[in-house]
Amino acid sequence: MASLTITVNGARREVQAPGDTPLLYVLRNDLGLSGPQFGCGLSQCGACSVLVDGKEVRSCVMAVSRVAGKEVTTLEGLAARWVKQNGLPAADAEKTLHPVQQAWIDEQVPLCGFCQNGMMIKAAELLDQTPQPTVAQIKNAFTSDGPSPHLCRCGSYSAIIEAVQRASSVIAKRGER
Ligand code: FES
Ligand code: FES
Repeated sequence: MASLTITVNGARREVQAPGDTPLLYVLRNDLGLSGPQFGCGLSQCGACSVLVDGKEVRSCVMAVSRVAGKEVTTLEGLAARWVKQNGLPAADAEKTLHPVQQAWIDEQVPLCGFCQNGMMIKAAELLDQTPQPTVAQIKNAFTSDGPSPHLCRCGSYSAIIEAVQRASSVIAKRGER
C-alpha cells in the first residue's frame, strides 16, 4: 500500500492505495465523490470521465499514480473550476453551477442519469477548447474525440447537443461583458 498525494477539485488529498489502483476507485471509495460512475470499467462508455489538467480521461483505466502532480476535476468540482477560470470570488463556487450543469438542468437532459457525469465532463472540456462549437464539432467530441464514444443507453443525445449549444451561448454572452 502506497501513500499518494493527489489534487482533486483544488484540494490536496492523501490516499493510501497501490499505485495501479484505478483513479475511479480512489475518487469514489476513498474520497467519497459520487459524480464519476462505474459503467464498463474498460474505457468504452465514458461514465467515469473526469478532467485531468483540463483533458477528459477515463478514470476507470487511469492508474492513480499517473495523476500525481496533476489537477483532477470531477463533476463536483466543475463549478469551482468555472469560478476560478472567470476570476469570480471563490465563495461564488458554492452558489454557482458551471454553464454546462445549468444547461443540463434547463434542457432536462438526464433520463436515468447514469451516463450524464461523463457527458457534462466532455461538454466542459469541449467548451474550454471550442467555446462556439458547431453541431458537427459537438457530435465529434462525443463520438470520435476519445477512446470511445460516450454512450447513453437512454438516448439523450439530441438533448445533449441542445444543452451544449445553450451552454455555449451563455459562455459567449459572458465573453461580451
Ligand atoms: S466506466 Fe470508464 S469508460 Fe466506462
Ligand atoms: S441518461 Fe440513462 S444512460 Fe444516459
